[in-house]
Amino acid sequence: MRKALIIGNWKMHKTVGEAVEFARALSVGLSGTDDRDVAIAPPFTALYALREALRGSTIALCAQDVHGEDQGPFTGEVSAPMLADVGCRYGLVGHSERRRHFGESNEQVNRKARALLRAGISPVVCVGESLEEREAGQTFSMVRRQLKEGLNNLSADDIRRTIVAYEPVWAIGTGKTASPGQAQEVHDFIRQFIGHRAGKEAAAEVRILYGGSVNPENAASLMAQKDIDGLLAGGASLEVDSFRKLIHS
Ligand code: PGA
Repeated sequence: MRKALIIGNWKMHKTVGEAVEFARALSVGLSGTDDRDVAIAPPFTALYALREALRGSTIALCAQDVHGEDQGPFTGEVSAPMLADVGCRYGLVGHSERRRHFGESNEQVNRKARALLRAGISPVVCVGESLEEREAGQTFSMVRRQLKEGLNNLSADDIRRTIVAYEPVWAIGTGKTASPGQAQEVHDFIRQFIGHRAGKEAAAEVRILYGGSVNPENAASLMAQKDIDGLLAGGASLEVDSFRKLIHS
């Protein structure tokens, strides 16, 4: 019952021209994908042009970040209503690179998620443990805390509109993927958490994506896991061919 969702996170890559060229090339020959949702998360600068380039296509737009307030004196920031205005359907919050390089806390992640929900955008709340935490046996307690604080004050209805991405920090951009079994174990834990927090129906509905060195070779075995509903891909989403393979996996 959960529709698969594949998101390409371009991070700080691609000019407007490159983004538009990619979108055109990807749209060609992207058929037979009605059973899955596909989204691109480009840098802010390419959102508007991509919306125009993707008109008539089923590929959606995802923001990479957002500010927790709807407007105000926050130089350099972009708000959720602005993202809705350029057609974003999804928005990443709490990506580990934001947490690590910009000191983003669970509380900020929560404010951002709520800002997106107010604007009618589905937040993609990213969680995941570091290598030290995994080795210290703290994977579940870390993920539990990120979920508890990140989803704080969200109604069951809000949670049903939310997507969770499990991205073990040690797997991001390292070429080390979690094994399908390792990923499934945490996805199952996340779904149980959602069940306790928002009820059985929400748990059955919420999509949980895996991210961290996903590539065309490992995508199918990850997607075959019961609680893995999609992928959040970085590096492998930068080339049309490999992103297309992920979409079809
Ligand atoms: P990666 O990035 O696929 O390059 O590991 C994933 C992510 O950061 O979302």
